Amino acid sequence: MIVFLVFTSTSNNGLPLLPKRTDLRNTFVGFYVFPHGGITLDPAGMDYSEEPAFSKDSQQKSIQLHDAMQQAADELIKSKPDLIIFSTPHGFHLMDNHVILSTSTVYGTGGWIWSNFTAEFDIDTELSAILYAELKAADNNVDLMSLGGGGETLPILWAEVIPWYFIREAAAKANFPVPSAVYIGQPSHVNIDGLRDLGRDISKVALLREEFTTKKIAVVISGDLSHYHSNDTNSPYPYSPISKVFDKHMVSWAKMDRNAETAEASSKEILENAGGIQGQAGHCGYTGLTMLHGMIEELVHQDWNFKSHFYTYQTPTYFGMMVASWLPV
Ligand SMILES: *[C@@H]1O[C@H](CO)[C@@H](O)[C@H](O)[C@H]1NC(C)=O
Ligand SMILES: *[C@@H]1O[C@H](CO)[C@@H](O)[C@H](O)[C@H]1NC(C)=O
Repeated sequence: MIVFLVFTSTSNNGLPLLPKRTDLRNTFVGFYVFPHGGITLDPAGMDYSEEPAFSKDSQQKSIQLHDAMQQAADELIKSKPDLIIFSTPHGFHLMDNHVILSTSTVYGTGGWIWSNFTAEFDIDTELSAILYAELKAADNNVDLMSLGGGGETLPILWAEVIPWYFIREAAAKANFPVPSAVYIGQPSHVNIDGLRDLGRDISKVALLREEFTTKKIAVVISGDLSHYHSNDTNSPYPYSPISKVFDKHMVSWAKMDRNAETAEASSKEILENAGGIQGQAGHCGYTGLTMLHGMIEELVHQDWNFKSHFYTYQTPTYFGMMVASWLPV
């Protein structure tokens, strides 16, 4: 049975927020940003010298990212989530709509020279259907996608496999079951207000629907920053000075704690400063991170605060990658 929530709204910059309530409980145990370059998987063990735009620092920078992803995954598992809301920019995606997957399992490999790195995870199809119906009823551009009867294993690629490879390793180490997921595929078309609204609405559903409030939820956003960092002739993308500027704003946003005092500055950094140039930055992470921004905004509005744990930012080859998290305080 689907019970549609009525999102009674107060306004803040024209976008809907739930009125403050004292009967709600924060169901989120942490928010994580994972990059997904294959070079983070085994930088100490494999020869990457054929990677596009590889230079003498690439290995060292990749090792730092690898270690950061391992630490972030350990931290995530330590918070014992039973659900991961997972966002990916180039798994299943549509031009304008956010795709929520409704299938029991996904499986895939890291691809290229990383095809022996694999990951699989289960989708919580009941929660995915509830989230879809609530988001759709609140006028978000969402769709629920399935194949056959819904029991098929659907493929995942590097942007999903790489974060989940680290999460699965951390879970195995801690002898903790791999959490099931709600899979959100971000659209190609970037609608900043739409992403922020979607994030806010996801948090509302998680705070108001009993099926979610009884869970401990971690949020994982897979995404990389600008791909325009390198002049190397074998870089697959052109060089642009905007790369540094865009990534600087995203890093500065990621380093901010989230509370009433930083609400305005963090919004300005991601929505205006980075948002104003995202179209020329060649990123793949901005969609998921803007959705995440909206999710946390909604929680800050209920007076819950989150501390930023910034692990690292590196450009080992031609694209920027950062590892960051926010944990409740
Ligand atoms: C994949 O193969 C490489 C070397 O060929 C090795 O270093 C790495 O550990 C392997 N990874 C897994 C997950 O087996
Ligand atoms: C790339 O080339 C441009 C133009 O020559 C130069 O201004 C810039 O500093 C170079 N950037 C990098 C990252 O090497």
